Amino acid sequence: MTMKKEILKNNKTQPNLKDYAVACKEFRWEDAENELGLSTKDGINIATSAIDTHAASWRKNKVALYWEGADGGCKEYSFGDLQRESNRVGNMLRSLGVRKGDRVFVFLPRIPELFISIIGIAKIGAVAGPMFSAFGPEAIRDRLKDSGAKVLITDSSLRERVHQVWDELPDLKTVVVTRTVEGGGGGEKLWKREVRYEEEIEKESHHMTVEPMSLDDPFYMLYTSGTTGKPKGVVHVHHDMISHYITTKWVLDLQEEDVYWCSADPGWVTGTVYGLWGPWLNGISQVVFEGRYDAERWYAVMERHGVTVWYTAPTALRMLMRAGDGPVKKCDISALRYICSVGEPLNPEVIRWGMDVYGLCIHDTWWQTETGAIMITNYPSMPVRPGSMGRPFPGVKAAIIDAQGRELPPGSSGILALKPGWPSIMRSIWKDKERYDEYFKIPGWYTTGDTAHMDTDGYFWFIGRADDVIMTAGHRVGPFEVESALVEHRAVVEAGVIGKPDPDRGQIIKAFLVLREGFNPSDELKEDIKEFIKHRLSGHAYPKEIDFCESVPKTRSGKIMRRLLKARELGLPEGDLSTLED
Ligand code: WTA
Repeated sequence: MTMKKEILKNNKTQPNLKDYAVACKEFRWEDAENELGLSTKDGINIATSAIDTHAASWRKNKVALYWEGADGGCKEYSFGDLQRESNRVGNMLRSLGVRKGDRVFVFLPRIPELFISIIGIAKIGAVAGPMFSAFGPEAIRDRLKDSGAKVLITDSSLRERVHQVWDELPDLKTVVVTRTVEGGGGGEKLWKREVRYEEEIEKESHHMTVEPMSLDDPFYMLYTSGTTGKPKGVVHVHHDMISHYITTKWVLDLQEEDVYWCSADPGWVTGTVYGLWGPWLNGISQVVFEGRYDAERWYAVMERHGVTVWYTAPTALRMLMRAGDGPVKKCDISALRYICSVGEPLNPEVIRWGMDVYGLCIHDTWWQTETGAIMITNYPSMPVRPGSMGRPFPGVKAAIIDAQGRELPPGSSGILALKPGWPSIMRSIWKDKERYDEYFKIPGWYTTGDTAHMDTDGYFWFIGRADDVIMTAGHRVGPFEVESALVEHRAVVEAGVIGKPDPDRGQIIKAFLVLREGFNPSDELKEDIKEFIKHRLSGHAYPKEIDFCESVPKTRSGKIMRRLLKARELGLPEGDLSTLED
């Protein structure tokens, strides 16, 4: 362990947030804005603040990105390198006709080009749409079509999935293809409107004029699931950077010498906000690991790069817990000094296990794609109550309310709501005002769709979702999208989808299917349907369990009663059945 890490680990360095109560009393968003040194009169840009400012300072040669490939190869990028490379991407996009406000989607594995592209897109004032590399053609089509994306950046291993749906995407002018890092067949013939990333970049200068933006201009959008309809495009603006900056500083407690690793992919909001912008706004070195979850490999990544702060998810932690002490004992991860978790309830059992194995308390954080930054959370300087999500970030007002918007007293269960006004709150749902307005139906509040309660000391405790949204392995899945994809299978006429509790993944997806005439239930058919969904939609959204049934319960107005499917599955009371069809 180096001297610096020892100092950090022994906590001789004070946490960035020293006193929660004082911070709440004195907090002003303007102070965070001033720390970032924004001068709105000349225009701002999140990429300038996250990259160029450091590249123009003594941090120029500081490592911004320690990248480790799935095959074990490593690369390092300084802030100066990221500036130059992202400038070239920005210039390339301008040459391809992309202008301020246009949507540019990115469909890449976690390779350096993914991060460089997102920064380059922000630099020209376009809107980046990161897509998870496990998405199938259907998921890709829905996002590119709805957003009207003009350019897509992908690689040779993924482009074929785009080809399958290109005909349905009239707005998509150009697809930029980079090779996979392993060299995965970059030599193949390109389609008419495909260009090669490396060739285009080569033509461009390392210098550029960054587009001056206002705080209210969008810079990224992410599609997320609700109970009904296709995934919705949550739009975020440059103003978000103030929330990114200060929450990263106070919650993840990142300090100059830290080596930070966020295990989330930028296709999910955690990876975009805390695996890219937040840490770089703070000038911190981050690790990106291209590969998938693997207990031994993850610890080896931490050892190799000397990770000091780690942001991960309960599912991963539960899997590591089940993997036992073996893998962790093989590696030296003694540099690790701080751990945070997000995405699902963090079981007290996992916190206790973390204390034993890592000698560190895992700090839970709560937020959503729509909130754009951590909202309710634990801090290094505040005692953790295992099972609680913690307390609201200074400057954020959270409450438990009833359907009329009245605040409920401590101990009462109700709707978890937030008072709008923090910088990173979403600014729209792309082309869907109605769905945006849904969040603000209770006057004065943003409603989260979660239910919770608050104790007398203001700690919040998660209860569940108020709707049918499924959280599986930290991923948010809407039952409707899965049902829609299921009924496209030739054997399926009707589908009802629920989340079923699972000890590792929080929930797994379970589907109840009615088969078309002429098809008989069989294990082979189940496997075929699972593969179909994995391929069409995404690896994380396929039903792990399938039951065939005669009918799916529906209301008289034709809505699938997922609540009833769930109650039957779990042997719970069936509740009010007055609206059931038969
Ligand atoms: C759930 C992820 C319990 C919650 C950043 C929320 C959590 C949804 C926690 C948002 C937590 C997130 N404890 N549940 N600490 N954090 N959730 O948009 O239901 O992918 O509404 O954002 O995840 O999921 P999303």
